[in-house]
Amino acid sequence: MEINLESLNALIAGNEFKVTILSNASAYLNECLDNINWVGFYILNDNYLYLGPFQGKPACINIPVGKGVCGNTIKEGKTIVVDNVLEYKGHIACDSASRSEICVPIYINNKIYGLLDIDSPNFNRFNESDKEILEKSVKIIENALISAK
Ligand code: SME
Repeated sequence: MEINLESLNALIAGNEFKVTILSNASAYLNECLDNINWVGFYILNDNYLYLGPFQGKPACINIPVGKGVCGNTIKEGKTIVVDNVLEYKGHIACDSASRSEICVPIYINNKIYGLLDIDSPNFNRFNESDKEILEKSVKIIENALISAK
């Protein structure tokens, strides 16, 4: 199933709580994406990322900014695609099955809020068009988050 941005929006827009939005977004993305083993969110607080709503195996609870793919995404403020996590210096392996990964930062009112993280058991899972649709998905998520508590 392909990601449908209107369906994503319908599932999350207008919700009062951020946790509700992120929970449904992770469930929807998990349904749409083939060959993934983890999809979820990390939320930034001070200098650490904290585990948010996700689908997949239990994962690292907190990650310092600047560590791993997630921590570097916050540091750089832009999407990171890793074709082979085994070759990524400092990769944090929450699920030993993971082979490639994409992290997309989430901004609320121009301030970095956290990120969307997706792992795949396949090498080179995330190409340019995956990056594009996931960044568009994050824009929809950002719009829903702005007015939520
Ligand atoms: N691999 C990530 C850690 C988070 S898990 O993949 C869910 C990283 O290197 O930051």
